[in-house]
Amino acid sequence: MSRRRQIYEGKAKILYEGPEPGTLIQYFKDDATAFNAEKKGTINGKGVINNRISEYVFTRLGNIGIPTHFIRRLNMREQLIRQVEIIPLEVVVRNVAAGSICKRLGLEEGEPLPHSLIEYYYKDDALGDPLVAEEHIACFNWASQDEMQDMAAMAIRINDFIAGMFAAVDIRLVDFKLEFGRLWDGDYSRVILADEISPDGCRLWDMNSGEKLDKDRFRRDLGGEEEAYQEVARRLGVLQNDD
Ligand code: C5P
Repeated sequence: MSRRRQIYEGKAKILYEGPEPGTLIQYFKDDATAFNAEKKGTINGKGVINNRISEYVFTRLGNIGIPTHFIRRLNMREQLIRQVEIIPLEVVVRNVAAGSICKRLGLEEGEPLPHSLIEYYYKDDALGDPLVAEEHIACFNWASQDEMQDMAAMAIRINDFIAGMFAAVDIRLVDFKLEFGRLWDGDYSRVILADEISPDGCRLWDMNSGEKLDKDRFRRDLGGEEEAYQEVARRLGVLQNDD
């Protein structure tokens, strides 16, 4: 079989040229990184599970009218996606204090926030993805005002929907990261959800025990990351071996 042309290789995924113009193939690796790639490792089977979980979440979001890059899953590790121009921002939604906000503001991990928060980080590995204000985004023209409004509105809807989706399987959605892209049609573009939604980019805690079911197991050397990812997939009902 001939190899497809590689377009981009990230820390956890590879993008290949797709079968038709305007499409790409997103391949999910088992590689895991943390702390801006200072810590590297693998989580066996992670790519297969994240492909399934992200397919499931993006499909459900598509069903409620959130436009996404997802077209269809191709096999265990690959999905067909629409080619977009990635907006250089990581959009983080937080419901409960954890991770960097605890360090930055001296909050206790697990403190519920008075209301959900949206934060923006500038995607730049060399700078370690710094937190930025909307003023920076406008000043440096990383996204337009319209695009910011669209991203914020989608982030709130996505949070409401997937927090409920996870709560239904006894998982608390603490926080998560989204990426958006511009889908071009001639001279015009619209913003759609891109990248992935999986335990790599979410904090997911068991509702009863508080057990962490996400990449913090890897970040903090807690062990059991494979089992944690599998548990999320199992609860969502997406772990079938039909290919
Ligand atoms: O580290 P921090 O607390 O800012 O992370 C917030 C959320 O965004 C976490 O769920 C984390 O997994 C996710 N994130 C990510 N990629 C990054 C930074 C954060 O997926 N580069």
